[in-house]
Parts: sequence; structure tokens; C-alpha cells
Amino acid sequence: MNILTVSTQSFSDQKPGTSGLRKAVSVFQQLHYLENFIQSIFDTQDGYEGKTLVLGGDGRYYNRQAIQTILKMAAANGVGQVLVGCKGILSTPAASCMIRENQAFGGIILSASHNPGGPKGDFGVKFNISNGGPAPADVTEAIFARSQTIDTYKQLEAADVNLDSPGSFKLGSMTVEVIDSVKPYMKLMESLFDFDQIHQLLTSGTFRMCIDSMHAVTGPYARAMFEQRLGAPAGTVIAGEPLEDFGGGHPDPNLVYAHELVEILFGDNAPDLGAASDGDGDRNMILGNHFFVNPSDSLAIITANAHLVPGYKQGLAGVARSMPTSQAADRVAKHLGIGCYETPTGWKFFGNLLDAGKVTLCGEESFGTGSNHIREKDGLWAVLFWLNIIAARSESIEQIATSHWQTYGRNYYSRRDYEAVESDRAHELMDRLRSAFPEMPGKKLGSYEVEYSDDFSYTDPVDGSVAESQGVRIGFTDGSRIVFRLSGTGTKGATLRVYLESYEPDGAKQNLDPQIALADLIQIADEVAQIKTFTGRDKPTVIT
Ligand code: G1P
Ligand code: ZN
Repeated sequence: MNILTVSTQSFSDQKPGTSGLRKAVSVFQQLHYLENFIQSIFDTQDGYEGKTLVLGGDGRYYNRQAIQTILKMAAANGVGQVLVGCKGILSTPAASCMIRENQAFGGIILSASHNPGGPKGDFGVKFNISNGGPAPADVTEAIFARSQTIDTYKQLEAADVNLDSPGSFKLGSMTVEVIDSVKPYMKLMESLFDFDQIHQLLTSGTFRMCIDSMHAVTGPYARAMFEQRLGAPAGTVIAGEPLEDFGGGHPDPNLVYAHELVEILFGDNAPDLGAASDGDGDRNMILGNHFFVNPSDSLAIITANAHLVPGYKQGLAGVARSMPTSQAADRVAKHLGIGCYETPTGWKFFGNLLDAGKVTLCGEESFGTGSNHIREKDGLWAVLFWLNIIAARSESIEQIATSHWQTYGRNYYSRRDYEAVESDRAHELMDRLRSAFPEMPGKKLGSYEVEYSDDFSYTDPVDGSVAESQGVRIGFTDGSRIVFRLSGTGTKGATLRVYLESYEPDGAKQNLDPQIALADLIQIADEVAQIKTFTGRDKPTVIT
């Protein structure tokens, strides 16, 4: 088998965003596009020769083809062994688990997460490092820099590998192990949660749940876990077959895109728990019977109840949340006397805190929750965490959430997304807000008084690296906040995200619809940023 050195020309647009390189499929299908980026990864890693790489994706269109290309490139670049998901299927959390358990030098995960798939949808490549987590900024910057000068890549001339069932193959001197990743992932979950207690709950006849895998990667994991191992009836998992176009849906577990699940949980004879995950299985949305659990609250509730879960009952080192995530978890951390960290958006910022043992749990408002068990957020882990809490407390999701608010107060929270707006106008909106910073403090906006306004900057407490311009914040004297950010994962124009938060300590005032509780702040945000003028939109695309 020959190793080919192929001449290529660089592409100017291979800068990874919040979570890897994410582009339309048609962009990835350009001649040499994928190869350039993959070669740039190898060229910027030290000492990986002879070592193990983990590879797989969320099953979206172009996944299998990309895997075959990457296998041949890995062989040509001297990788010792590749562990690849059977049928190309590997959820992001399972990939993180496999990287850690096999001391791999890293992993390549093919996913555009919650973005739509299919020939007209998106594709993505994420590189994870040896701790199992997303490559930090210095690594992604080096990969991007390399992609700007690349002029050749290496590829083994070889036939495609059969990915359809587990097995072992040779590609040149490299070994390819095709693995069913459900097993190692399940084992890890069994080590953290009380499976007997959850089994009892799911077979008691009094508790029903519905898991929506949205025709994305979690289907096989969820069926094996909930229906086979934990005794839930067949049919508990819906949309469980991974499809290349996710059945035409948008595999984003929120109230808009997971509307089928929402209709079930808010309909007649609703189950007790509903959960959905995203394209690559790292997100989770938790619903109770006619009840939505805000992801920021979910992090706080998980933190407050972690002592009920075997893997966490020995205590938590600390908790971290992304800046736009509500401050609900901060209140629990204070009560528990543990550290609390506020990081920029994106899971990669949690890696150092987890590695240094500063935090045990992490979460983002964008339906992401996870812990030190891996270095990614983990959708099914969050479902198991909730099931374990429900089983241990014998209470409904609504009871658990409302009693949490009674103890800690309620952080009313909402996020409003304006998707695919004109990019220049979105940047203008952000620039205008930034230029208004000096005159903001002390200003009255409606009944609120501005305490501070800034562009969030983060200094990593472990390695001292600094991430600037991570979102415009307007903080009010009563602790309420409005945050504006532009998405780093969208592929069409710009996506403006507006995050709103207020705090209600009074137990008698905690059962409002957040849209009503936050109505004044929503109006202030619209006015201060002139959202209609700059986005040309009357209302957001998605409200959470
Ligand atoms: C979004 C979320 C962010 C998450 C990321 C990857 O990024 O807001 O919390 O880490 O997807 O799942 P954004 O599009 O806002 O840059
Ligand atoms: Zn995802």
C-alpha cells in the first residue's frame, strides 16, 4: 500500500468556532477541504506516532465518507491504532470516555452537533485532546494557522474499511478496531448511578418516561440503556434510529425543535419525565409532566442533590457554569461552601478546571450538563442523574424544582435567539452596545438601574490564558442581567443570542411564566440594542 503525498491549496475559512470546524456539507465536499483540516491536526500534534486515535461521528450525511478518508490519512501519518465507532456512530460523550479509557492521544468527532444534517445541512469536525475534552484555544489556533499554509497532505492508498460490525483490520501498519461504543459508555454510567434504584423506578408501573433521540446519535445508547438494561418498556425511546438527515428535523433539544416531545409531555396522560438530546448526544432537555426544567436550574438542582447519587455522594469539589448561564448554581455552591466558576461559552473552558480538580459539575444554559467523569457535556448522563434523584426522593420533577426554588430562590431565565441575521448588522449591534459602556453605569432603564456593563473577559485560573470579548453584559443593581452574544456555531449569517435573568426570593412569586416575569427586561433589551432595527426581525427564532 502506497502513501501518497497529495498537493493542495489552503482554504482561508478553516478557523474552528465555539465547537470545532462547522460548515455546510457542500463546503466540506470541496476537493481537499476535509483533508487539509485533518492534515493540519496531525501537523500540529507532537508525538502521536504509534499511538491511539478515537474516531466517529453523529451519523449525519458525509459521516461515513469522512471516516474512510480520515482512516487512510491517519495510517499515512503514522497513527498506531484507530478506535472507530461501529457504523461510524460515536456520541461525543462516548468519544470522550473512549479517549480517556484507552489513553488515546486524541479523538476526531464528526458532528455539527445541533445543526441540521443531510446533503443541504451542516457537517463538522471536532478535535479532542488526550484528556477527552475539546481542544483548547491554543491548539485550535495552531491548527488554523497550519491550515493557512498547508500545501500537501498524506493519504494511504487503500480500500475502504468495513464499519458495519465490530472487528479488527489493518490499514498499512495501522490497526483499525471497529467498536460498539455503547458498552464502555454503559459501564461508565453504571459506575456513577444507582442502576438498581433506577431499574425499580422504571419497572414500578407508576413512572413513565419518553426519550426523544431525534433520529440522531443517542438512539442506540438510549435503547440499550433504558429499554434493555434499566427495564423501561419498548417504545420508551422515540426517533431512536440515527438517520443521515435526522429525519429532516433540527436535532436541537429545545422547546421549538423538540416539539414532538413537548407535545407529549404537555398533552393528556403525559409521562413523568421527557428528555431529548441533540445530534451528537452531548445536550439534554429535561421535561416533567407539564413542566419544563430550565437548563440553568437543572445544573443547580443536580448540584444540590448530588449527595443522593453514588458517584457524587462523597462531595463536590466545585461547580462551573458558562457566563450566560443563570446564577442559580452559584447560590447552591455558596450554600455547600464549594468553589464556583464562571467561564466563557463553550465546553472547552471547563477542561482545565476539571483536570485540576477544582470542579466536579459543569453546565451551560444551552442544554449542556456534565461532570468530571469525562471532559464533554453528556446528555444521557443528565437523564440518569435526574432519574437517580427522582428515585431517591420519590418526588416528581415539578416538586423537586419548586422545592429547590423555595430553598434557594428562583432565577427567572430566558434565552432569545435571532438566527441567520445579516452578519454585518449583527456586528454593528454588538459594536454599538460596546461603545455605550462608559455612559451605562448609574443609568435608569425602566425600573432597573445599571450597575455595570462590560464585555466578558476570562482569565483561566489554571494556566492564566485569557479569553476576551466573550459577551456583552449589562448588570443591574438588583442582580438582574442582560447578556448579548453572537453565536460561534452558526453557519448562516450571524445568530444573536440575548440572555435574560432576574432573581425572585419570594416563594409566593415563583410560579410565573418566565416570559411574564422577564417582560420588562425583554423590552429593555430590545430597546437598548435596537434589536428590531439591526436584525430586521419582529421576534426571535427560538425562545427558551
Ligand atoms: C452553542 C451554545 C454553547 C455550546 C455550543 C456547543 O454555542 O450556546 O453553550 O457550548 O453551542 O454545543 P454558540 O452557538 O452560542 O457559540
Ligand atoms: Zn452537541
